[in-house]
Amino acid sequence: MHLHKYEKIWLIFGIASLVVFLSVVGISAFSHGHTPAGGMDTIDPKKVNETAPFDNPGVTQLDDDTYQVAIVAMAFSYTAPELKVPAGKEIIFKVTSTDVVHSFTIDNTKVNMMVVPGQITTKSYTFDKPGKYLILCNEYCGSGHHFMSTEIEVY
Ligand code: CUA
Repeated sequence: MHLHKYEKIWLIFGIASLVVFLSVVGISAFSHGHTPAGGMDTIDPKKVNETAPFDNPGVTQLDDDTYQVAIVAMAFSYTAPELKVPAGKEIIFKVTSTDVVHSFTIDNTKVNMMVVPGQITTKSYTFDKPGKYLILCNEYCGSGHHFMSTEIEVY
């Protein structure tokens, strides 16, 4: 195969650019210790109901300014008894799934987490305003996907 001189130059330039850009992304990710946004905690999806904090899902007060909310997602609901949390305090959401990939999305907030079986996804959020917030699944998870929602009350 014959390559024109300019083709060769541009090919080398393109490949070299790719190597440089990927190196920059890779090296900066490792040097800053980047991890997936929701953390890297894992869990046995078959033992979710026996593993803390999911053996006791719902709201737990950790200290004066911090609350933890543990939620299990499954087709097609969230185990979320009486979700009530205060405004102005740090709420740490921990979610996992027992079956397929779901999402845990709280309307009108920046909480939008993937819920993956075998993984615990964590996100911290502070609600500014009291009110009722819709929680819904925005990953297509099966025939009942559009029924998968619940509510959290912020007081
Ligand atoms: Cu769960 Cu869509």
